[in-house]
Amino acid sequence: MHKPEKLKQIGSRRAAPTGRAALSTQQLHEHLYDRLPELQLIYDTAPVGLAFLSLDCRYVQINQRLTEICGISVADHIGRSVRETVPAVAAQVEQLVQAIVDTGEPVTGVEVRGQKADRSNADHVWITNWHPLRNAEGRIIGINVVAEDITERKRSEAALRELNETLEQRVQAETYERLQIWNVSQDLLVIADSDGRFLNVNPAWTATLGWPEAELIGRTLLWMLHPDDRENAHAETKRLAAGHVTQRFLTRVRHKDGSYRWLSWKAAQDKGCIYGVARDVTELRDAENKLLEARQELAQVSRRTTLAAMSAAIAHEIRQPLGAIVTNANAGLRWLDRSTPDLAEVRDTLKHISADGHRASEVIQSVRAMFAKSDPVGAPLDANELIRETIAMASDELEAAKIDVQLELDQLPMIPAHRGQLQQVVLNILTNAAESMRNVEDRARTLRVRSKPFNSAGVAVSVQDSGTGIDPEHAERIFDAFFTTKNNGMGMGLAICRSIVEAHGGTLSVSPGVPYGSVFHIVLPGIQ
Ligand SMILES: Nc1ncnc2c1ncn2[C@@H]1O[C@H](COP(=O)(O)OP(=O)(O)OP(=O)(O)O)[C@@H](O)[C@H]1O
Ligand SMILES: [Mg+2]
Repeated sequence: MHKPEKLKQIGSRRAAPTGRAALSTQQLHEHLYDRLPELQLIYDTAPVGLAFLSLDCRYVQINQRLTEICGISVADHIGRSVRETVPAVAAQVEQLVQAIVDTGEPVTGVEVRGQKADRSNADHVWITNWHPLRNAEGRIIGINVVAEDITERKRSEAALRELNETLEQRVQAETYERLQIWNVSQDLLVIADSDGRFLNVNPAWTATLGWPEAELIGRTLLWMLHPDDRENAHAETKRLAAGHVTQRFLTRVRHKDGSYRWLSWKAAQDKGCIYGVARDVTELRDAENKLLEARQELAQVSRRTTLAAMSAAIAHEIRQPLGAIVTNANAGLRWLDRSTPDLAEVRDTLKHISADGHRASEVIQSVRAMFAKSDPVGAPLDANELIRETIAMASDELEAAKIDVQLELDQLPMIPAHRGQLQQVVLNILTNAAESMRNVEDRARTLRVRSKPFNSAGVAVSVQDSGTGIDPEHAERIFDAFFTTKNNGMGMGLAICRSIVEAHGGTLSVSPGVPYGSVFHIVLPGIQ
């Protein structure tokens, strides 16, 4: 239908526009538009860009809308070539026109970008459709161009695409993360339907309980539960179904090997599904039980230790009154054995025996009170009187050991104290002092007891001996129970003293004596 020579003609006209070609478009323009004003109206009002090109790619007509592509006015288009107005796409347009002429077929969907010289609309896009117009003989006489500005559509398409991509990436990332957590979790995760039938379990189930996933899906927890836990679990599932959240619910669940593991559950219901997390707390429970056992054992041990310390303290403290009882009893016997028994002396020794017996019983009472930590406040007491009494009590032993006792007692305020207990303190310190001087031969054996007020209401008592002194290495250990350097010592004396003094709110300490021996300091607070 299209003869090759005709195509050549078009080509030559395009290459060198002549008056004849311009006339030809002018003629076409007149023919098409001037005679058809309604066609012109369509051009002026259509919401799309329209143009009609001659076969040598000149504009026969163009509407205002289409000029937006290149920014040149409508008038400046008519009769001019595509090469002049939109040089950048001219080659593409010429090829298109050529193809339509060759095939007789329209070409649609060709995208064209903005062509303004200042490139201000370079990001705008039009979609163009190219249709041939034929004359009465069927010969193609020109090409009709329709162009739609699709910039906005393309932008929203791109934005939508980007959004979709990011969304997809996010969904993918989140799905991956959740899957990772699901897989690596050591807690047992389960999703079940509202009847408790397992829909999905994580690998921790197999790791903890030995059951493969396939054996769990579709079943409920009940068949694996310890028979004693079934009733509770049933009730808890009902509560869960009623919308309650399960917290720290404990059950025993059967391992594939037949043993039971303790699981602590948290679960909640949402949209007809139960979401559960269970933690294996078997080891924790075992450890807790062991701890409980250990605590019980410790309590027993400490009870036994207290008992041992108490009996040691009683034994220690009644040694002195028992010794005195035996001595007095022997003395009494001797008075009786005389040819004329001296009954007055016997009566006297019996009185002593009775007093020592009472004291022994008081000692037992006060040791028990000390361990029970009861009755912390005693009656007001004159410490000087107590010192004198105690020295009198030990006077026989002190005399026998050739010890010179020196008293320097100041006027003292009354202090709250348990007489029997403080007596034991002073007596134990005196006994130790006497024992430390037993082997002293080259100097006087002196025992100096001083007392003076302390902080106005309190009392300070010191007991100094001229004995062997205390090895500095032992200075603090001497107050420990069972610490002794003596062959027949129990190591209880000072431990008892310190606990009595401290129970009175006071302190007991030691310092080296000058030039020999040691000094024990008792400080007791006054009435508050
Ligand atoms: N005045 C002192 N001089 C030197 N060493 C002392 C003196 N008092 C105590 N010690 C030392 O402190 C140690 C502990 O004294 P503590 O009275 O607690 O026990 P003990 O006298 O050994 O035995 P016991 O239980 O029979 O009293 C003594 O073994 C001794 O080494
Ligand atoms: Mg002692």
